[in-house]
Amino acid sequence: MKCLQGFILLITTVFLTNATTTPSVVIIGAGTSGLSAAKKLLENGIHNITILEAESRIGGRINSVFFGDNYIDLGATFCHGEKGNIVYNTVKDLNLLGEGKIPKKFYHSSGVKVDPKFGEELIEIILTIYPDVDESAKNMTYGDYIKKYYNKAINEKFGADKEKLKIAEDAINFIEIMMLSNEGSSTWFEINLGDDYIENEGNPMLNWKGKGYKTFLEVFFNNSGVQEKVILNKEVKKVSYDASKKWQGVTVSCSDNTQFVTDHVIVTTSLGVLKENMNSLFEPELPLVKRKAIKNMGFGVIMKVAMYYENPWWDDSSNGFNFIWSTEDRENSVSEFPEGPHYNNRSWITYISGFLKADENPNVLIGWFAGNLIPEIELISDETLSNGLTYLTNKFLGHAYNVTKPNKIIHSKWRANPHFRGSYSFQKPEAMKGDNPTNAEEDLSVPIKNVDGRPFVHFAGEATHPYYFSNVQGATESGLREAEIIKHYYE
Ligand SMILES: Cc1cc2nc3c(=O)[nH]c(=O)nc-3n(C[C@H](O)[C@H](O)[C@H](O)COP(=O)(O)OP(=O)(O)OC[C@H]3O[C@@H](n4cnc5c(N)ncnc54)[C@H](O)[C@@H]3O)c2cc1C
Ligand SMILES: *[C@@H]1O[C@H](CO)[C@@H](O)[C@H](O)[C@H]1NC(C)=O
Ligand SMILES: *[C@@H]1O[C@H](CO)[C@@H](O)[C@H](O)[C@H]1NC(C)=O
Ligand SMILES: *[C@@H]1O[C@H](CO)[C@@H](O)[C@H](O)[C@H]1NC(C)=O
Ligand SMILES: *[C@@H]1O[C@H](CO)[C@@H](O)[C@H](O)[C@H]1NC(C)=O
Ligand SMILES: *[C@@H]1O[C@H](CO)[C@@H](O)[C@H](O)[C@H]1NC(C)=O
Repeated sequence: MKCLQGFILLITTVFLTNATTTPSVVIIGAGTSGLSAAKKLLENGIHNITILEAESRIGGRINSVFFGDNYIDLGATFCHGEKGNIVYNTVKDLNLLGEGKIPKKFYHSSGVKVDPKFGEELIEIILTIYPDVDESAKNMTYGDYIKKYYNKAINEKFGADKEKLKIAEDAINFIEIMMLSNEGSSTWFEINLGDDYIENEGNPMLNWKGKGYKTFLEVFFNNSGVQEKVILNKEVKKVSYDASKKWQGVTVSCSDNTQFVTDHVIVTTSLGVLKENMNSLFEPELPLVKRKAIKNMGFGVIMKVAMYYENPWWDDSSNGFNFIWSTEDRENSVSEFPEGPHYNNRSWITYISGFLKADENPNVLIGWFAGNLIPEIELISDETLSNGLTYLTNKFLGHAYNVTKPNKIIHSKWRANPHFRGSYSFQKPEAMKGDNPTNAEEDLSVPIKNVDGRPFVHFAGEATHPYYFSNVQGATESGLREAEIIKHYYE
């Protein structure tokens, strides 16, 4: 008798569970946000999940490729900070992260030697210029602030030494490129110092010891079952619904004319993809507050390049090289190196702040290009890219090393790829005030609901995080967030 009761109870439970709590979810994009949403949904007992990914691989803007003797990253590179960082917390006991260091050796385009001690002093000024930002400066752009406070700082420190002062003045362009490769914007006059981004305390430049950022995906999604939910090479063209009628579900239509009807869709495509496609991707069109948010947030692009040398020509004494152009040399750079795109007499080769040694990859150097020319620089032929990098290397380091041409190069094309259209978001001042309590990032994140209050179009991805936008921890948390919202709806 007891036994039978238990059996009946079991059947009833299974039946009820199926009837009331197994919504279907389609996730657009298999980057870290989409995969995280799937992982959390599975943990919450929601199994009817399909992840549609336009590319032929998972990971999205996490893209580690084998190059030289180990992995290099074309996208996300560093684990930024430790405390409160889900990436750091996931791997912290596994000995997978290495200490990243900022290169401190400077080279000047004129060929004059930059004293190492002076280089360290410069780095010190650069690194300490932000923290003391007072309230009144928070509405200043990075560009205005640094021009003002950096000039003050170098005049105080080097005012008595004209030669040092001149190099320090020239270094402002180095700082600009460095800052732009951090923020991903195309100018430093479109971001305020007091934006909503929150830094995680701890080392901001932890590396993956030559195994790439994919290591995080391998650990975080290990045995999670998310991989089996992914359909690759499946590009979504339209998300359509009629929210005014009795609930019929959302229709997700793909380029290959297949369709999925689902209870919930989680859109995780980059802000760049939303900016380009929001009018064609959604039917009916998105609510005004979302269109405004998408417009008001910034989405830029940076370009990473890796160079492989069969015979490395550098030594082990530093972890990289910083380049400072003199104003005259920068303006003459187009006539000196005419190949490839240029802007205001500046050749594309001036859009890079230097080279870093790749971690655990002894024959490889890495460079980060940033600024307004990146969409054009991405399209340069490998031959021109290689020539330009060799010219650059010779100009700055030729007096110290027997520089050679790289044997192989590889570089990212995030802007050219229609499934990304750039690298990551930044917060323009107009995005700091949203309709919702915080900002435009939050405005984008709030799910669209139908007349009964049922959330059905969800948004995740780095640009929907109110304070960790732009990075992997923000993207990952945003996916978990939407999975929780779906779970709560059925509680
Ligand atoms: C060069 C570069 C350097 C970076 N450096 C760092 C770093 O050092 N540290 C850090 O934390 N972060 C860094 N980032 C940012 C980080 O990579 C991203 O914030 C994060 O990976 C974004 O994840 P996501 O899931 O939001 O978006 P994505 O990874 O872009 O995932 C979205 C997915 O949607 C797919 N998709 C797009 N359109 C469609 C469609 N129509 N149909 C179906 N699928 C579609 C895309 O192919 C993609 O796979 C960097 C990014 C770049 C590009
Ligand atoms: C998953 O959801 C879809 C769409 O609602 C439905 O057609 C399908 O039968 C479901 N699959 C399972 C296994 O429940
Ligand atoms: C910036 O803030 C200061 C003080 O908080 C204020 O006096 C100034 O007008 C503000 N500037 C702009 C451009 O908003
Ligand atoms: C995945 O989990 C298994 C145990 O379930 C473990 O042996 C393996 O090392 C894990 N792999 C990673 C990359 O964490
Ligand atoms: C570019 O250089 C030319 C020739 O030296 C000069 O006439 C012109 O003003 C420069 N343009 C800019 C934008 O600096
Ligand atoms: C560069 O090559 C020359 C000729 O082979 C050699 O004499 C010199 O020592 C080399 N310099 C360095 C820095 O390796």
